[in-house]
Amino acid sequence: MHPDVALLCLFCCGVLPRAEPRREPTDAGRCELPRSQGDLNSFLWTIRRDPPAYLFGTIHVPYTRVWDFIPENSKAAFQASSGVYFELDLTDPYTISGLASCQMLPHGENLQDVLPRELYRRLKRHLEYVKLMLPHWMTPDQRGKGLYADYLFNAIAGNWERKRPVWVMLMVNSLTETDIRSRGVPVLDLYLAQEAERMKKTTGAVERVEEQCHPLNGLNFSQVLFALNQTLLQHESLRAGSLQAPYTTEDLIKHYNCGDLNAVIFNHDTSQLPNFINTTLPPHEQVTAQEIDSYFRQELIYKRNERMGKRVMALLKENMDKSFFFAFGAGHFLGNNTVIDVLRQAGFEVEHTPAGQPIGKAFLENLLLCGNINLLGKQ
Ligand SMILES: *[C@@H]1O[C@H](CO)[C@@H](O)[C@H](O)[C@H]1NC(C)=O
Ligand SMILES: *[C@@H]1O[C@H](CO)[C@@H](O)[C@H](O)[C@H]1NC(C)=O
Ligand SMILES: *[C@@H]1O[C@H](CO)[C@@H](O)[C@H](O)[C@H]1NC(C)=O
Ligand SMILES: *[C@@H]1O[C@H](CO)[C@@H](O)[C@H](O)[C@H]1NC(C)=O
Repeated sequence: MHPDVALLCLFCCGVLPRAEPRREPTDAGRCELPRSQGDLNSFLWTIRRDPPAYLFGTIHVPYTRVWDFIPENSKAAFQASSGVYFELDLTDPYTISGLASCQMLPHGENLQDVLPRELYRRLKRHLEYVKLMLPHWMTPDQRGKGLYADYLFNAIAGNWERKRPVWVMLMVNSLTETDIRSRGVPVLDLYLAQEAERMKKTTGAVERVEEQCHPLNGLNFSQVLFALNQTLLQHESLRAGSLQAPYTTEDLIKHYNCGDLNAVIFNHDTSQLPNFINTTLPPHEQVTAQEIDSYFRQELIYKRNERMGKRVMALLKENMDKSFFFAFGAGHFLGNNTVIDVLRQAGFEVEHTPAGQPIGKAFLENLLLCGNINLLGKQ
């Protein structure tokens, strides 16, 4: 993503072409574009300093689905910043190879060797179903761009038998009709990274790939089996038409564009872990779901927020006269123990910047202008 893991996975598969600068029409029909800028959700925070630095919350969905809902002042803050930093450095080939090797089972093991036979069989069957459906899920537009179902399947799921179960679980979650249909358009974080490169901004990252990858590998075996089993159960029900997934990409987009800043939803997007708590589970399984949830909160959100906050501060201190735009998953700015909290505790002034509020220099100019208007009014 920010580039988080899922994005990276897309990225490393090489199925994402460069973003076209021209904006494609959005089909975010589920919520209306508000009439005024001031009514848009803002995921922008300003760190008070001169020049200013900005924190911006991203999500891992095709940028065309959210772009029109991103306030002009957030875009202006991006434009105005000379350094743009992400969670991971997507332009570094090591990021991709590092992630790929982190996802592999150790010692040349195979999934068939580690998974209970029945679970392995269900997984295999589900992937066969996906492979069969893929040509029907793809859009004419995707085919027009030269994307082939076989290629896409191999890009996402090739080598699945050699991957650690936790990564296979994430992979299964990304193999849905809606997610497949959105392939081929860069996700928001990647789009920003491409734009930053195109505009010759300095780009960088505050995390290394291991720092994102290792915590996911740290779930213990029974927890991973539970998560994979639950994921497969969800997708099997989806296949049977008897279930709507609890937090789908569509919900996420809707929340980002028009909803409240629901920390739970964005935390899950940020950590990449699906939410198992709000499924109907017997009591002992509720306990496991809770344990996984607190593990991810601690290891994939809180600990990383602490580290990311510290690296942001180091960058700010080492580059006093440089303007910055930090684009991280929105979940790192919402909820408890956020990156913002870390910065504030260290004495930085960080303020939410609502849509419609002028940023940086424009803000000062606006103040002066308004002052003048008031003076004129008094005369
Ligand atoms: C996995 O972790 C949970 C919670 O910490 C613990 O209850 C369980 O015994 C562990 N299982 C294994 C196989 O280590
Ligand atoms: C998967 O979950 C279901 C329902 O929670 C449970 O009955 C089944 O035993 C689990 N299977 C495995 C392999 O853990
Ligand atoms: C679980 O999901 C349902 C429907 O999506 C929702 O109405 C309910 O409030 C959720 N419960 C919890 C505990 O989040
Ligand atoms: C934040 O912490 C409070 C108190 O510990 C807890 O009740 C709440 O659920 C937490 N919120 C999130 C989004 O984790």
